[in-house]
Amino acid sequence: RFWIFGVLVMLVLLTIGTMFYVVHDYGLVTSTHSYATDPQAPPREAAFQDGKVVRTGPNAYAVYMVGRAWHWSPDVIHVPEGAEITFYVTSADVLHGFEIQGTPVNLTAVPGVVGTVKYTFHHTGLFRIICNEYCGMFHHAMVARIIVD
Ligand code: CUA
Repeated sequence: RFWIFGVLVMLVLLTIGTMFYVVHDYGLVTSTHSYATDPQAPPREAAFQDGKVVRTGPNAYAVYMVGRAWHWSPDVIHVPEGAEITFYVTSADVLHGFEIQGTPVNLTAVPGVVGTVKYTFHHTGLFRIICNEYCGMFHHAMVARIIVD
């Protein structure tokens, strides 16, 4: 009985500890993810042909990102530190995962749907966008770069 109780207590503590760790490191950002159509966004069809970075304000950018097996367009993005960046993410073929390593940005690129997420980089440097949804033979090579300077 002691050991059963002890194991249950450890499970509860581990669960709570893990939740604190995740929230502390990554923050609760799921509410900014939206798969609905954003009526304020500029026309997308053209922007998604090859992907595009558009300056939308003094310190704001929109990034139109399209995933295809097996690359992202655009595959190199330059943005300044501290700018508010809105990513509009879609896919031209199958499901891809849009994850910016080291940030809480993580959504699924879905064909026919535009996912939206806002993010501000507070550090300069190189950030990798990786596909975290298995999408075929070169899934592992589906990497784009964000250069924050
Ligand atoms: Cu695209 Cu995995």
